[in-house]
Amino acid sequence: MKVLLTGGLGYIGSHTAVELIKAGYDVEIMDNLYNSSIEVLDKLKQITGKETKFYKVDMCNLEEMDKMFETGHFDAVIHFAGLKAVGESTKLPLLYYENNIGGTINLLKCMQKYKVNNLIFSSSACVYSDKNVSPYVEDGILGAVNPYGRTKFFIEEIIKDYANTNSNFKAVILRYFNPIGAHESGLIGENPNGIPNNLMPYITRTALGKLEILNIFGNDYNTPDGTCIRDFIHIVDLANGHLKALNKIDQLKGFNVYNLGTGHGYSVLEVVNTFNKVCADKVKFKFTERRAGDLDCYFACADKAEKELGFKTQKTLEDMCLSAYNFEKNNK
Ligand code: NAD
Ligand code: UFG
Repeated sequence: MKVLLTGGLGYIGSHTAVELIKAGYDVEIMDNLYNSSIEVLDKLKQITGKETKFYKVDMCNLEEMDKMFETGHFDAVIHFAGLKAVGESTKLPLLYYENNIGGTINLLKCMQKYKVNNLIFSSSACVYSDKNVSPYVEDGILGAVNPYGRTKFFIEEIIKDYANTNSNFKAVILRYFNPIGAHESGLIGENPNGIPNNLMPYITRTALGKLEILNIFGNDYNTPDGTCIRDFIHIVDLANGHLKALNKIDQLKGFNVYNLGTGHGYSVLEVVNTFNKVCADKVKFKFTERRAGDLDCYFACADKAEKELGFKTQKTLEDMCLSAYNFEKNNK
């Protein structure tokens, strides 16, 4: 099976590429390099021992996309490409709608024209309304609260509408919770430009002295230690979720949604304390004001993915911290 990974040089795409290649899939990658580096391609070769075909294509350019599909003869697409910074999306909503939704419509047009009928899409826990009680279930109340989250919600709906017009088309929507950590090789990982927004890259850079101190945003939440709780999932487990979905896609019908999480919540303080326990360099931290828009606690119900896809996470919070630290040390 030949699989196209859109946005495949990014954080989640690159880890998924490794697991798919290891499992014997023929993987090809397209990316416009907006938030990734071409060097990742070489890292993939170092890890897998295989050359991966790469297309430098912008999904917003229908002509480029069409050309790639004409020559590619793909059997399936895993659609990672997109912009993902929540804060930026509130300042530049049109860019987010144009890139994420416009790009996905171009992708679906090409899939329709070239009869590619298997799609796995990177969605997010942020499509769920805060009215849900954890663990979040797939048929819970939807209601994204920022433009980024709304792009994910709208794209899910667009894919569902398209699936209704094509009985051969199968879509798997994967709603990720909070992926952290890195591949054990330390060659690929999460490498945001500038000052990280997300917790783990902030922790690893603080531990190594690249940043001064970690601000923990709020310790007065309604949780046991007062800091927020999230479902942190190891990136390699998350990548394997895509492999499980691809392995099963033949047996699925139409539009399908799965959470990818551990089913367990960890507090921000638990993550920091675990990091400080298992890693040689320690993170200095202080408690500061809450960050606008953060919810006190949410985590996934992981039962559906386990029952229907056979997906179960293997890695611990220690593994997540150690692998992220290892990548940051390598990533000079
Ligand atoms: P990432 O930024 O590392 O990877 C996304 C890739 O898409 C980048 O390499 C970028 O260059 C590429 N891209 C963006 N716009 C493009 C375009 N117009 N044409 C071609 N390529 C384009 O992000 P990631 O963390 O790997 O996330 C992958 C997907 O998963 C995204 O859709 C993201 O919204 C979603 N997601 C991520 C998280 C998370 O915490 N990382 C959580 C939920 C959902
Ligand atoms: N946090 C800090 N200090 C930091 C960074 C984060 O205390 O420097 C806290 C946040 O306040 C939050 C927790 O760590 O309580 C996790 O924050 P992240 O920014 O790492 O992750 P979020 O849960 O806010 O959001 C992430 C992705 C979203 C995605 C969501 C899905 O950024 O795109 O997970 O669950 F939608």
